[in-house]
Amino acid sequence: MKFPKNFVWGAAAASYQIEGGVTLDGRGPTTWDMMCRKPDAIWNGQSGAEACDHYRRYKEDVAMMKSLGLQAYRLSVAWSRILPEGTGKVNAKGLAFYDKLVDELLAAGITPWVTLFHWDHPLALYRRGGWMNRDSADWFADYTRIVVDKLSDRVRHWMTLNEPVCFIDLGLKSGTHAPGDKLAWAEVLQAGHHALLAHGKGVQVIRAAARTKPQIGYAPVGNICVPATNKPADIAAAREAMFSFLGKSLWQISWWYDPVFLGRYPADGVKIFGADAPAVQAGDMKTIRQPLDFCGVNIYSAETYRAGKDGKPEKVPFPVGYPITSFHWNVVPEALYWGPKFLYERYGKPIVVTENGMSNMDVISLDGKVHDPQRIDFLCRYLRELGRASADGVDVRGYFQWSIMDNFEWAEGYKQRFGIVYVDYPTQKRIPKDSAYWYRDVIATHGANL
Ligand code: FCB
Repeated sequence: MKFPKNFVWGAAAASYQIEGGVTLDGRGPTTWDMMCRKPDAIWNGQSGAEACDHYRRYKEDVAMMKSLGLQAYRLSVAWSRILPEGTGKVNAKGLAFYDKLVDELLAAGITPWVTLFHWDHPLALYRRGGWMNRDSADWFADYTRIVVDKLSDRVRHWMTLNEPVCFIDLGLKSGTHAPGDKLAWAEVLQAGHHALLAHGKGVQVIRAAARTKPQIGYAPVGNICVPATNKPADIAAAREAMFSFLGKSLWQISWWYDPVFLGRYPADGVKIFGADAPAVQAGDMKTIRQPLDFCGVNIYSAETYRAGKDGKPEKVPFPVGYPITSFHWNVVPEALYWGPKFLYERYGKPIVVTENGMSNMDVISLDGKVHDPQRIDFLCRYLRELGRASADGVDVRGYFQWSIMDNFEWAEGYKQRFGIVYVDYPTQKRIPKDSAYWYRDVIATHGANL
């Protein structure tokens, strides 16, 4: 498999999922701390209070990343470490943590890719209405400014928000993620609009204040659709299913990409949401549509479509016994072909896969090692498809495996293990799984061994 010369091989994690140390050095509480106290909200009542203790073990973790030959590491900054109240007084100690982490990474030859918001919203902001409050966009911009002032002499790669559909739809509509609300469509969509505004204002701030020329992106997720066959009609059906509104859902990827790249909400989506569609003020869409350097996308699975008899896309069910991960997500390697391809066709921006990986029932075997052939097989199949997309002309610039190590998987607690490095939580021992050594070789051969 051939990948472009400057293609970047990375792995990712996020602050609340690995850091722990939730009361250390003045960190303020977040909506996820609150969520984890709710009865029955998280599997086995678990929380990210300790997680991987990365806040204290970051040096060891960076050394481990270096030993695996990682070229880039996607991390997120915990807003409430920087601004314990969400706005106002800056906590120097929290900022110092990311300062040291970035230095450590750079000294190890690893490029930091920084996500500004990966869901741990300061609780103080939630008490002021959270994303429902239009001011949330300015709160985000102000926070971004502080981080950019501190890190942009060394950090060049930035992502504003991770997966807005999760903190908006799962957070405010179904309530399975923090803050755990079950609001009506009108409120949910308005909050989503504020998140998009936050993205736009965040990009403006990075562009204006960064001290080294920035590369800015955004890391959404949504339904990826693949065609059942290579017939043009099925390909067209998959493309249509991916971008148009076949039903009332925020998982339609165009809801989160069209405003950012095209400066408008998809018209069919606006129509379907009707009176609940967000109130858009003059200038909002211009603010949201800021020039971006790359199109990030998190891809784990996909749905299959074909052209139905009426010419409309028709969903093709997975056959009985179709491969799934421990999360029960369908294994669909072609997602990493069609996802980037369709996104590149529509938005014309270089693609970076900001997350991809699988949860697996990993155990420490009698030989003391962690054997995860399923993950090697999964990653190999997906990466081959990404390589194929690249060979077919999609401008693919990088890939971030999720995740560098097992971590707190939100509502699923520690049940799901996504890491290429195993974490034995009681001892906090890290054990690279077979897939970590395999990925090290993928990186070393620039994908030639796939
Ligand atoms: C994504 C999240 C990430 C992780 C993976 C498995 O939705 O961005 O934090 O939970 O899924």
